[in-house]
Amino acid sequence: MTAPDLDGLRDRGLAAYAAADTLDALDAAKAELVGRRGDLTAVQRSLGDLEPEQRRSLGAQVNAVRAALAEAEAERRAALEAQRDRVVLAAEALDVTLPPRTPRRGSLHPIVETMEAMVDVLAGLGFTAVEGPEVESDWFNFQAMNIPADHPARGMHDTIYVEPLAPRDPPGSLVLRTHTSPMQTRTMLAKPPPVYIAVPGRVFRQEAADATHLPVFFQMECLAVDADLSFADLRGTLAELCRGLFGADTRIRMRPDYYPFTEPSADVDAWVPAVGDWVELLGSGMVHPNVLRMAGYDPEQVSGFAFGMGVERVAMLRHGIDDLRLFIDNDLRFLTAF
Ligand code: DAH
Repeated sequence: MTAPDLDGLRDRGLAAYAAADTLDALDAAKAELVGRRGDLTAVQRSLGDLEPEQRRSLGAQVNAVRAALAEAEAERRAALEAQRDRVVLAAEALDVTLPPRTPRRGSLHPIVETMEAMVDVLAGLGFTAVEGPEVESDWFNFQAMNIPADHPARGMHDTIYVEPLAPRDPPGSLVLRTHTSPMQTRTMLAKPPPVYIAVPGRVFRQEAADATHLPVFFQMECLAVDADLSFADLRGTLAELCRGLFGADTRIRMRPDYYPFTEPSADVDAWVPAVGDWVELLGSGMVHPNVLRMAGYDPEQVSGFAFGMGVERVAMLRHGIDDLRLFIDNDLRFLTAF
């Protein structure tokens, strides 16, 4: 066997490493020299056929070439890696001095904001917020509120009826609730007195939308039932609520009115400082004995007061808004103003 040209092999290898201009090219060159089928590997394999003397001296040369190649490869690799890092860092560079892109924050709808403000004041007075179903039975929406089928008050409610769920239910037995008052009875049936609840929620009437009417709007119903609540408790609660919503200088006055579910009933006006005038605000009264009885309470043992108010009305007075349709237009200029 002729002696392999180890010096030539080394020089070719060194040249190949020096010429490799990417890490992939360097890996390929390395495989050609010292990989499983590499040239140097082939020389090393052939050593086994040699005489011991020859094997030793050639083996030492192979090792020297291998070391020289490994050193050159490591050096070239370090240089190529440094070059790659420079390219990647340049491509991914961030200018941390640029002004940040501020995310646009959402905000509560003015109706929600107002409803939360109302619940806040009422919670401070000892009321707990509860919510009820928007699809309601005729019984809860009307009959349990002391509004029987032939009662003239039904005409005022412009009710939207819902197709009954079961074929055996008579037509007209399901409605979209026209007020949040039915939660009075739902709550009283579910627990013994005392009851102190605030009921925020969506209500529905068959109306065309204009500046002062919406087919879908919000109410806050309040009910207190306890051992001996009086009209004075109602008046005190209303005065406190109005001061909480419109400011410490707010005053209220009550005018006799009629509601089927309260007796006596009163409409409440508030003198709102921001408006500088009396505004009609809500309906109220002492819970009618029939309502207590239908809810399983004994009117001889307990008495109660209730009131119901429109949330939109309160929001309009608090923010000086004059058209109800603004609440449903979803114009961002309006919605982000609160
Ligand atoms: N439920 C009435 C409505 O929708 C509002 C109301 C009036 C509620 C008088 C009451 C009340 O609790 O006492 O117009």
